[in-house]
Amino acid sequence: MDAAYVLLVVLVVICSTPTPPPCLAAGATDAELTTWKCNNRTSYAPNDTYQSNVRALIASLAANASRSVGFANGSFGGGGGRDTAWGVALCRGDTTGTACASCLSLSTGVAFGQCLGARDVSAFYDRCLLRFSDEDFLSVPDNTQVQLSGSSKDSVTGGSREVERFGSLVAYLLGALSDLAAFNTTSRYAVGVVSSDEGFLATTKEVVHGINGMVQCTPEQASAACRGCLQGLMYGLAAAASSNGSIGGQINAVWCRLRYEVGQFYDGSPMLRLAAPPPTPSPSSTDKAANEEDDQVGTSLLFDLATLRCATSDFAEQNKLGHGGFGAVYKGLLPDGREIAVKRLDKASRQEHPEEPLKSEPLDWHTRYRIIYGVARGLLYLHEDSQAKIIHRDLKASNILLDGDMTPKISDFGLARLFDSDKMTTITSQVVGTLGYMAPEYAVFGHLSVKLDVYSFGVLILEIITGRRNTDVFESVQEEPSTLLSYVWDHWSKGTPSEAMDEWLQRQAPVIEVLKCLHLGLLCIQENPVDRPTMLKVLIMLHGDASSFESLSRPAFIYPSSGIDSSRSCSRDLGGQQVVTTGLGSINSISVSEFHPR
Ligand SMILES: *[C@@H]1O[C@H](CO)[C@@H](O)[C@H](O)[C@H]1NC(C)=O
Ligand SMILES: *[C@@H]1O[C@H](CO)[C@@H](O)[C@H](O)[C@H]1NC(C)=O
Ligand SMILES: *[C@@H]1O[C@H](CO)[C@@H](O)[C@H](O)[C@H]1NC(C)=O
Ligand SMILES: *[C@@H]1O[C@H](CO)[C@@H](O)[C@H](O)[C@H]1NC(C)=O
Ligand SMILES: *[C@@H]1O[C@H](CO)[C@@H](O)[C@H](O)[C@H]1NC(C)=O
Ligand SMILES: *[C@@H]1O[C@H](CO)[C@@H](O)[C@H](O)[C@H]1NC(C)=O
Repeated sequence: MDAAYVLLVVLVVICSTPTPPPCLAAGATDAELTTWKCNNRTSYAPNDTYQSNVRALIASLAANASRSVGFANGSFGGGGGRDTAWGVALCRGDTTGTACASCLSLSTGVAFGQCLGARDVSAFYDRCLLRFSDEDFLSVPDNTQVQLSGSSKDSVTGGSREVERFGSLVAYLLGALSDLAAFNTTSRYAVGVVSSDEGFLATTKEVVHGINGMVQCTPEQASAACRGCLQGLMYGLAAAASSNGSIGGQINAVWCRLRYEVGQFYDGSPMLRLAAPPPTPSPSSTDKAANEEDDQVGTSLLFDLATLRCATSDFAEQNKLGHGGFGAVYKGLLPDGREIAVKRLDKASRQEHPEEPLKSEPLDWHTRYRIIYGVARGLLYLHEDSQAKIIHRDLKASNILLDGDMTPKISDFGLARLFDSDKMTTITSQVVGTLGYMAPEYAVFGHLSVKLDVYSFGVLILEIITGRRNTDVFESVQEEPSTLLSYVWDHWSKGTPSEAMDEWLQRQAPVIEVLKCLHLGLLCIQENPVDRPTMLKVLIMLHGDASSFESLSRPAFIYPSSGIDSSRSCSRDLGGQQVVTTGLGSINSISVSEFHPR
């Protein structure tokens, strides 16, 4: 083995496994009027100039939208005075120019029919939406003014667990589509499907295997604005799906809209195909510890050097994806077709970060939230993928790779374990991981379960919000030196949680949202693993609002005051290092390079 290069850690790129599309027929009528809103704040008299301006505006918007990207905005007549009509028109991303124009022109029916006399009208069809008003609503896009939702009267059956499982899939799909539309398209439109092998029985008597989704923003919006618009609406839609299991639903605002149906309702192929995680095990089985030997639990995810050389064409320069603090990352292809990323650790670069000058600029909240959200999605994929459960076991800040868009990828699977999903908990004689991120039941007793990654995720959230490392020593009025976890908990329990946020967040971030994440982070580090949410639950919670969260008890602090071998002041010395404890109580600090799998 090369002396300069050490253990190679493998990152299985988190991506969706392609599954066949569901074969459900498109049922929607293109020009169906979905919903509308007449705002009767002010009205106009029959044959008023305003009425003819609206008529001309609609014709002009329809013509302009059909000529360009399915979007138009502008005003008509009145020179900006009381007869001026402002309007926005948007066609669904899969609509041709002609169909777009004819859909939009239908809105005269609402304007001079259902809403005759109203000066501010919105009409939503399957394929298009149009709003006009006598006020210039274009200058300040405000989604709260018009927000209309609807859902199917049919639902999934089988009780609240099934309904919740369905709702979380809806949230999973719409969240992924929102990312895709906002960050990976210029049209700001995305359609996709999530399929569940197990399926859901619906009141229609069909077994539903696929949920289709569509999200769209007006295309002129910046990525972050679009994502924010979708996020704001998605919460309501996913919450409705989780509470009554409606098999179709949509929410429409002028600047963005989301929809899901069990059948495919859009033209063309899905841009995203996701596989549903298997149902979450019932909490009662989580406690049972199967006393199994390490080797019987699962297969190691480690590959030998020859395989990795082959997969990356001997670390060819053209396969290099980038360079991180500890070495270069290469793209590779395994013989079975799986794409992997391989980080080649370089001893020379271990201490310095020559290619990464550290930026002192704090990350804004939006970026931090995306990191939290992205890591949660990645962990969900690891924990609940239908073929294998994977426990990462060493989730920590330095194992999160950020790409140019600050999209997080979980890396360094050197310690990951495949986990037999029939057994919820098992005991391992070899405890590996990083102190400070390690769940107490694992560090002390070797209890291995997905909940230990949840614990590490919770620590990561606290680091992201406080802007401090978990190895930092915090000033404290008590005699014990304070750790990150006890510092945050102290603030939480004293009712001053916002003081735990870093200064930048205190000044600039949406406090309610940050506190929601802080609450979630503390839930993830609860002492009893059963009290920690699953990653599926975490994602639902990220979409939800903190009022429904479980209340907190004092979280588990593994050190310095409790846990393993407290005679060593391990928090300062070992904090950033990987450790192996052999048997209970003894800690050997080893560096990455010395780590050898069984
Ligand atoms: C509005 O105009 C139409 C056609 O020009 C006419 O038939 C109708 O009587 C007018 N209505 C009013 C209230 O003036
Ligand atoms: C439609 O496009 C034309 C040409 O770009 C523009 O002059 C007109 O104002 C647009 N119409 C509306 C209602 O914005
Ligand atoms: C607004 O006016 C329309 C047409 O007159 C009427 O159908 C609708 O019910 C009114 N809406 C409200 C909220 O008053
Ligand atoms: C209409 O949208 C364009 C982008 O397509 C934007 O530049 C313009 O400011 C908008 N017009 C109004 C009146 O808001
Ligand atoms: C679910 O809730 C929504 C909104 O609260 C409602 O419109 C819909 O009819 C409900 N669906 C079912 C199946 O109960
Ligand atoms: C979206 O874009 C990011 C980087 O720009 C990329 O890493 C990611 O794979 C893309 N996602 C999809 C689903 O194409």
